[in-house]
Amino acid sequence: MRPLLGVVALVTLVSPGLACPAPCSCSTKKNGRLLAECAYRELRDVPRGLSPNVTILTLSANRLGRLGRASLAEAPELQSLWLGYNHISAVEPGTFAALPHLKNLDLSHNRLADFPWQDLRNLSALQILKLSNNRLAAVPRGALAGLRELRSLWLNDNELATLARGTFEGLPALAQLQLFHNPFNCSCKLFWLKEWAHGTSVVLSRAGSTLCAAPARLRGRPVTDIPGALCVPPSAQLTYLSGPAAAGPRDGPTLTLHCSVAGSPPPEIRWQIRTAGRRVDIHGPTVARDGGAKAGRQRFLAFKNGTMAIPDFGKEDEGTYTCLAVNDVGTRDVSINVALAGSANPAEELPRDDPQAGHASGHSCAKGDELDPSGMGEKLVIVYRVSGEARSSAGAREFRLGILLLALGLLLW
Ligand SMILES: *[C@@H]1O[C@H](CO)[C@@H](O)[C@H](O)[C@H]1NC(C)=O
Ligand SMILES: *[C@@H]1O[C@H](CO)[C@@H](O)[C@H](O)[C@H]1NC(C)=O
Ligand SMILES: *[C@@H]1O[C@H](CO)[C@@H](O)[C@H](O)[C@H]1NC(C)=O
Ligand SMILES: *[C@@H]1O[C@H](CO)[C@@H](O)[C@H](O)[C@H]1NC(C)=O
Repeated sequence: MRPLLGVVALVTLVSPGLACPAPCSCSTKKNGRLLAECAYRELRDVPRGLSPNVTILTLSANRLGRLGRASLAEAPELQSLWLGYNHISAVEPGTFAALPHLKNLDLSHNRLADFPWQDLRNLSALQILKLSNNRLAAVPRGALAGLRELRSLWLNDNELATLARGTFEGLPALAQLQLFHNPFNCSCKLFWLKEWAHGTSVVLSRAGSTLCAAPARLRGRPVTDIPGALCVPPSAQLTYLSGPAAAGPRDGPTLTLHCSVAGSPPPEIRWQIRTAGRRVDIHGPTVARDGGAKAGRQRFLAFKNGTMAIPDFGKEDEGTYTCLAVNDVGTRDVSINVALAGSANPAEELPRDDPQAGHASGHSCAKGDELDPSGMGEKLVIVYRVSGEARSSAGAREFRLGILLLALGLLLW
């Protein structure tokens, strides 16, 4: 062993450009690239003594078991790294991040249950990524984002049961994708993949072998064939009602909002309330079925049926009320802006008579158009506090409220 090491050391001293680890054979290709050929050598570790100029390193069909962070530090110019058919079960994060010129990375036919996904952020030149025939059970959301040169991605023959919506977005060069032979769970969470596959120019190789493993009724069916009727994105409509004044300290009216939603699976309703002084996010009902508050005193009463009530509505409750309908297929939100006008004679406070209010509603329209091309812009609802005299006749008050809201043209669908 000693004489051999001596020769390697000598070679390194005499001609550093051609340094080549003993088990490998190195050569300069026509295009001047330096190739280190170390495949089929029964290697258990990445050999030491690589030239810092090596651009192609083949280590396929060896017995590599684990890649440590420094294992490739000698070869920062690598463009192609072939590591297929090894026993690699772990790669330390950072191992690939130091290879910014990497174009081809083959880790197929290994034993990876995880991959240092964050390293991909440094591999902006990557064109081909082969992770097929491993044990990967997940691709983290956004893991591939930013691989603007990525042309070919192999994830077939892994243990992927689902993929996050948008996994293949932000990959403008992607031309070929392999996902077959994974145990996909074709719940509505994966429905986006069907729609993406139908709408993209990326070739999904062997789509007919990219099959559902669950649920039972879809087992064996291609992912691209999940029946559309099962998975419908949410829709939502927000309506409101201004009710009689509560017997609260301020005699404020009760504002009732109702969010009616549809979709499959049935959407869950969430509320987001943004007032000048607070931000409240409500997931699920805050009021039990029997009407009792679930946890102490609640300012905003959210019922299971999509109704939200704000009793004794006051100035500090003014703000934006958003209903979100969420299911496995997607999310839909609808918002209204609510303002309180306090006057015995609300007609005097019509927005057009009030420069501030007029400005606010105009702003809200413009903002809605900008942010929401679907036309579901924010609406402004004005809740009026009515004086003591007017409140003595409930009928008169409701009449007046109705007329005002109609006059303002602010009725919601
Ligand atoms: C690497 O390549 C550069 C340019 O081709 C050359 O000048 C340099 O001597 C090489 N370095 C080594 C260590 O081979
Ligand atoms: C990876 O990229 C980040 C941000 O661009 C940089 O700070 C970091 O040093 C890079 N990592 C390596 C190992 O080069
Ligand atoms: C499939 O996904 C659905 C929805 O996320 C989940 O409820 C179900 O348990 C999963 N089925 C399997 C077999 O993992
Ligand atoms: C929802 O439930 C609450 C409490 O049971 C009830 O007051 C309200 O009228 C219901 N809303 C609708 C639209 O049925």
